[in-house]
Amino acid sequence: MDPKAAAIDFDSSPNNLEAFWMPFTWNRRFKQHPLLLASAKDMHYTSVDGRPILDGTAGLWCCNAGHGRQKIVEAVQQAVARLDFAPTFQLGHPLVFELASRLTNLVPGNFDHVFFCNSGSEAVDSALKIALAYHRMRGDAARTRLIGRERGYHGVGFGGISVGGIVKNRMFFGPLINGVDHLPHTHSLEHNAFSRGQPDWGLHLADELERLVALHDASTIAAVIVEPVAGSTGVLVPPVGYLQRLREICDKHGILLIFDEVITGFGRLGKGFATEYFGVEPDLITCAKGLTSGTIPMGAVICRKGIYETFIDAADSSGGTIELFHGYTYTGHPVAAAAGLATLEVYKEEGLFDRAAELSGYWEDAMHSFKGEKHVIDVRNIGMVGAIELEPRPGKPTERAYDAFVKCFEKGLMIRVTGDIIALSPPLIIEKAQIDEIVDTLRDVLQHLD
Ligand SMILES: Cc1ncc(COP(=O)(O)O)c(C=O)c1O
Repeated sequence: MDPKAAAIDFDSSPNNLEAFWMPFTWNRRFKQHPLLLASAKDMHYTSVDGRPILDGTAGLWCCNAGHGRQKIVEAVQQAVARLDFAPTFQLGHPLVFELASRLTNLVPGNFDHVFFCNSGSEAVDSALKIALAYHRMRGDAARTRLIGRERGYHGVGFGGISVGGIVKNRMFFGPLINGVDHLPHTHSLEHNAFSRGQPDWGLHLADELERLVALHDASTIAAVIVEPVAGSTGVLVPPVGYLQRLREICDKHGILLIFDEVITGFGRLGKGFATEYFGVEPDLITCAKGLTSGTIPMGAVICRKGIYETFIDAADSSGGTIELFHGYTYTGHPVAAAAGLATLEVYKEEGLFDRAAELSGYWEDAMHSFKGEKHVIDVRNIGMVGAIELEPRPGKPTERAYDAFVKCFEKGLMIRVTGDIIALSPPLIIEKAQIDEIVDTLRDVLQHLD
């Protein structure tokens, strides 16, 4: 066979962009002005026209160890050559068991089992199903309600969009799943604009959970799910004491608390997980993205002690059967598991979570240097996450931020925009000089933007 015939061409623009229906994209606009990436290494992408693009967003909040890391690349190469696929229904392979053990060791506190899937959306739907089935296994089958939060993003499965609170992600898709209610979000420009780290105002919003309990009765509520720091909606940092209060209320009423750590997991806040950063222990943690530093799709649900045992005991007492009727063909895929193991090693060897914590003060100052800048109406930050909220153009929401995104890309910087909010979350290997570069490029773009 001609070796060239099998070669993959990463470098030239495809002749036809039409067939790929792009996700969360204005397809028509993109296909008229495509932005294409050809390769990536460490802190940079390279565009198809050969320009280096500094990665200000860890891809899509996922490449926490940076790009093209040798250890991860080699682990993936070896894994795919050795065991391309192995089922995990009634069979197994060593890597996935090892990865589960390492993950439970990484999360401090009482976490002892891990369920694997392939994305954040699947992790959320798996966690919601585990929560519902858990109560049923305990003979508490009336607990079927789920509580999410306005502006929450929990992926795009029907469970995730039902508990999620982003209107466009919900409104096209019918009635969604039954029996869901929402807490209010915590964003307030009036009270919290330009807060550094956790805002002081907003703890009382957690008490809204008591109102929902009074409305529905605790005996009908299975779980509350929140992102410890809401990411995709534009970085909403929890008010001081807010997550602790949610935990207290859930404990009081026997409700499970799920932290969706798809963004906050794996060092984003300067600790392994947000549960450690905030000192609040949920019952289930969902994660994905940084689990493999974005290299191979993988998600997981990490479970507090007692949850798995509840399923095992219930199955035993009914004579022995499959305990959880849930799973994916690619649950614990060997190539993803290898990527996960190598990624955890890179995080550990390079001390990337501590590095994020050390850099976070510099990052905070860098983000807040945008206070007073043209168009800027708020700056928010925590760990290695930052958001710069822009005043929308009258009658044209999102347009100004999108223009900033395109201009930044032209100037060699990748940012992420959601609504009129610029969200930044660089790989944790970033250098201070590269933080300065993000700030300088973005400032220049904002100053020249209508
Ligand atoms: C908090 C949270 N949950 C779930 C998801 C969905 O993850 P995925 O896109 O891998 O399905 C995301 C993605 O950004 C997320 O931020």
